[in-house]
Amino acid sequence: MMIGVFDSGFGGLTIMSALLRELPEYDYIYLGDSARAPYGGHSKEMVLQYTREGVQNLFKRGAKIVILACNTASALALKELQKEFNSKDRNILGVVAPIAESVAAGGHERVAIIGTKGTTSSGAYDLEIKKNTEGCLIKNKACPLLVPLIEEGWSHKMETRRVLKSYLREIKNWHPDVLVPACTHYPILQKEMQRIMGRKVEVLDTGTIVAKSLKDYLARHDEYELTRSGKREFLCTDCPEHFKKWGSKFLEEKIDAVEQLI
Ligand code: DGL
Repeated sequence: MMIGVFDSGFGGLTIMSALLRELPEYDYIYLGDSARAPYGGHSKEMVLQYTREGVQNLFKRGAKIVILACNTASALALKELQKEFNSKDRNILGVVAPIAESVAAGGHERVAIIGTKGTTSSGAYDLEIKKNTEGCLIKNKACPLLVPLIEEGWSHKMETRRVLKSYLREIKNWHPDVLVPACTHYPILQKEMQRIMGRKVEVLDTGTIVAKSLKDYLARHDEYELTRSGKREFLCTDCPEHFKKWGSKFLEEKIDAVEQLI
């Protein structure tokens, strides 16, 4: 019985990488919906439908817990899918709640959130942060050019730095005390974000936050009977070779085999 990790593509492997670091003993099955990525500009209805199919596949393949590593899917589809799928021995968890809890616990007053159009316009982070703390100011900004630049392998190029700097200019002038990179791909630009924002702004390490939160959750829940033989399975919905190549970079570990779901 495995931990399932779902994402629109291979970006969620940045979250999986943190999970493997924190909880290496468990068995994992990862599904990236590469045929229909990116999700970031899709409507809520589409994201919900695609994520539903992904979650169904993961449960069918033996996942007992599914983590929606994708921020867009977590923001737009988690609540509905929890109602549809959760039962006493299976569960879906998202990334928004643990990250929002971490923001609240940090006592931050000015919180900047960057992500896809879907995530930043959903208000999901605002809602979760305000559940946990009162009185902080929140600013959302969509940065839609970052995902394609990173997927193109351009993360170290000057052009990408310029785009990032341009997106962060408005945020920086707003003087946040924390920046939430609310997208699976952004950890690739973590150092550059920190450099642009300066030392006074905390740039959250979202993968580690999600992984620690899952660790804490699993310590309180043993009903899922998760197996612990260190097995990893990777599935995608299109271009497995491309997924293998880029996925290995995002996971920071070689991926030997990727199965294409049809
Ligand atoms: N996985 C998405 C997220 O975290 C980014 C890529 C996409 O737009 O599909 O929001």
